[in-house]
Amino acid sequence: MISSRISGALALLATSLSVVSGQTFQRLGTCPTLGCILPPDQQDFLPGQHFDIRFEVHAPKNGSEAFNDGVPDEKFTVTIAKDNGKPQSIASFFELKEPSLEKWTFSWYEDLFAQDAKTPSVVNVASKIYRQVALYEPGTYTVTLNYYSGKTTTATWVVRPLATKKKAKNVILFIGDGMTTNMITAARLLAHKSINGKYQSTLQLDKFPTLGHQMTHSIDSFITDSANSASALYTGHKTTVNAMGVYVDSSPDKFDDPKVETIVELLKRIWGSAWGAVSTAFIADATPTALTAHTRSRYEYGALIEQALNGFSNTSWTKQDGPDVYFGGGAEQFLPSSASYQGKDYYAEFAKKGYSVSLNKTSLLALPDDKKALGIFCKSNLPVWLDRNIFPENTMKLKNDPSGASGPAKDIPGQKEMTLKAIDILHKRGGKDGFFLMSEAASIDKQMHVLDYERALGDLLELDDTVRATIQKLQDLGELNNTLIVVTADHGHGFDVFGGADTKYLAAQHDKDDRHKRSAVGVYHESGLSQYTVEQPGISYNTGPNFPVNWDPRYVIAAGTGAAPDRREQYGVGKNGSRTPAVTLPGMGDDDYYVNPTDRTGGFVVNGTLPTTESQGVHSLTDVPVFAQGPCSGNFGGVYSNTDIFFKIASCLGLGHPTKKTDGGKGR
Ligand SMILES: *[C@@H]1O[C@H](CO)[C@@H](O)[C@H](O)[C@H]1NC(C)=O
Ligand SMILES: *[C@@H]1O[C@H](CO)[C@@H](O)[C@H](O)[C@H]1NC(C)=O
Ligand SMILES: *[C@@H]1O[C@H](CO)[C@@H](O)[C@H](O)[C@H]1NC(C)=O
Ligand SMILES: *[C@@H]1O[C@H](CO)[C@@H](O)[C@H](O)[C@H]1NC(C)=O
Ligand SMILES: *[C@@H]1O[C@H](CO)[C@@H](O)[C@H](O)[C@H]1NC(C)=O
Ligand SMILES: *[C@@H]1O[C@H](CO)[C@@H](O)[C@H](O)[C@H]1NC(C)=O
Ligand SMILES: [Zn+2]
Repeated sequence: MISSRISGALALLATSLSVVSGQTFQRLGTCPTLGCILPPDQQDFLPGQHFDIRFEVHAPKNGSEAFNDGVPDEKFTVTIAKDNGKPQSIASFFELKEPSLEKWTFSWYEDLFAQDAKTPSVVNVASKIYRQVALYEPGTYTVTLNYYSGKTTTATWVVRPLATKKKAKNVILFIGDGMTTNMITAARLLAHKSINGKYQSTLQLDKFPTLGHQMTHSIDSFITDSANSASALYTGHKTTVNAMGVYVDSSPDKFDDPKVETIVELLKRIWGSAWGAVSTAFIADATPTALTAHTRSRYEYGALIEQALNGFSNTSWTKQDGPDVYFGGGAEQFLPSSASYQGKDYYAEFAKKGYSVSLNKTSLLALPDDKKALGIFCKSNLPVWLDRNIFPENTMKLKNDPSGASGPAKDIPGQKEMTLKAIDILHKRGGKDGFFLMSEAASIDKQMHVLDYERALGDLLELDDTVRATIQKLQDLGELNNTLIVVTADHGHGFDVFGGADTKYLAAQHDKDDRHKRSAVGVYHESGLSQYTVEQPGISYNTGPNFPVNWDPRYVIAAGTGAAPDRREQYGVGKNGSRTPAVTLPGMGDDDYYVNPTDRTGGFVVNGTLPTTESQGVHSLTDVPVFAQGPCSGNFGGVYSNTDIFFKIASCLGLGHPTKKTDGGKGR
């Protein structure tokens, strides 16, 4: 029923909307009006992909959008229409009972002035959620929310064409976290010798037949984090920073947001294939857990491991049996403690479900190929390639034994050993149904964040070496022709190399204002040639071909990123372990970062571009490369959205199905 109070306020709404446009703080990023449909407008679906639908009606109590005295419309209605057909109520279309109404209140800051003044705007909400539905017929669907007696919000959804035929038996998706074309170029310069401008060898990535570019933006911000970008790659649906496998709603519960089905949930449900995740990060980190996670907070590490093992069980959802292979770091979520789900021992929880558990490289290599396998090789992230191979004394300073004993983890595999073993197990367990493997080089990103370029590039070269060994392994197994290999990133950092630096000259300069030190940087002609490929008498790094023969030459790359805290630059490899460029200082704010007085002490200060509350570099806007080979690889050329990678892989795996089958999803 329309009251005069509501219609008066409706007129106000039209003017208040212009006030909030262009905001960087958002009431709810996907919902510029007071009526929200999640998934929102412009979303694409795979035929038969499970998802939840949430509707919200917002009534701001105060702030620039204040409306209806903060009383939300509880009598809103919702319809759906296919192509130009007749709209039906959502409940009857999906043959669901009408869900009960939910109500909550949240608050947000409209801008930095409101944040400084601590005056949040308060919003009351009425909402309904329809769980686990699916759209099976390709076409365009219009969803309409009618609220406040005459106000409407519509969302247009596209269900992409059917794809029922499997064109690739196996898919291996390599993610170089944060990896950009600029980093690949720099890694090539370090590891591959050139004579008079001609490379004598190249990266394995350089040999891929197809190269594309993907746009990585979030659904509601143009810079992404690794959670929602991984989720876009795995579900075909973009979401908000820190979220995975859900569209973010405004409710306080981090586990009730509307979900979307992921590639491995689909693959398990439709073909029963094997799947695995390998990461050089802690395994509860965003890139590996986004394969199974449904939460708006990537930081719920314990719950994310529980979701990976037993599937999402809080609300009705696709049954999920756990990965066939799960290899990485992050013992914190497995040892019984406050960091594990409900304090349980997840080594034991995995073992109970038939997993063989390995905590070091020796036992990893000895794992049986026919059993599900969990391998957790240290606490936190795996030490990087450079420390494992060139400066192993740094790994001995750590207290990261995965068994919980004090002292360092002593027998740690790298991405290559984990990936090759994963392929053996997945090949055996998948049998004729094939497998999906995601293998992540996580520390390209992690070391770029701390501006430790050599450590980042070392891990990029480890990724390239892993891809090379994977191709050989697939060849040996007779599976190369059946396997789509995609190598891409989830986002970039604004990194590039702009010249060379003479470390000997720089070390000899002691001018107080730092200005003369900078002449150690050589640009254009003075950048010279890569010295990382020139052997030094008496020094052997013994890391084989496709890596630098000298990590510590006098003339090094001078590199930087576009987004960094205040720091000191000295260039050249840090022999003492990973870098901490900026720190808080005694007597200053505990969220205020300055040049680390003990980092790169002979170098010169470079002031940052970021708010001083940031201790590290941040992600940047750049598109990232996509390399593909094998079946369907021809579809990966060109420029497209990160979500298209999901659709390209899903269609190559024949995951777009026209009927309900016995999948548990309600819909038509
Ligand atoms: C809205 O009301 C709350 C109290 O309910 C108050 O704390 C807040 O400052 C108000 N915000 C604005 C923008 O007036
Ligand atoms: C289920 O939801 C509750 C609260 O909503 C949350 O604390 C818990 O971690 C969730 N469990 C999983 C496995 O997601
Ligand atoms: C590796 O793990 C196995 C089995 O848990 C154990 O017996 C062995 O001592 C470990 N090796 C090292 C070097 O820690
Ligand atoms: C399969 O692999 C063989 C070499 O092992 C190659 O000659 C052949 O062209 C490949 N076929 C396809 C369809 O890629
Ligand atoms: C190397 O690291 C140790 C701590 O691990 C520290 O005490 C020492 O000062 C560092 N040396 C340099 C040159 O940074
Ligand atoms: C860095 O910024 C500080 C002020 O925050 C200034 O005093 C200093 O001169 C700057 N240094 C350089 C190299 O720009
Ligand atoms: Zn990332």
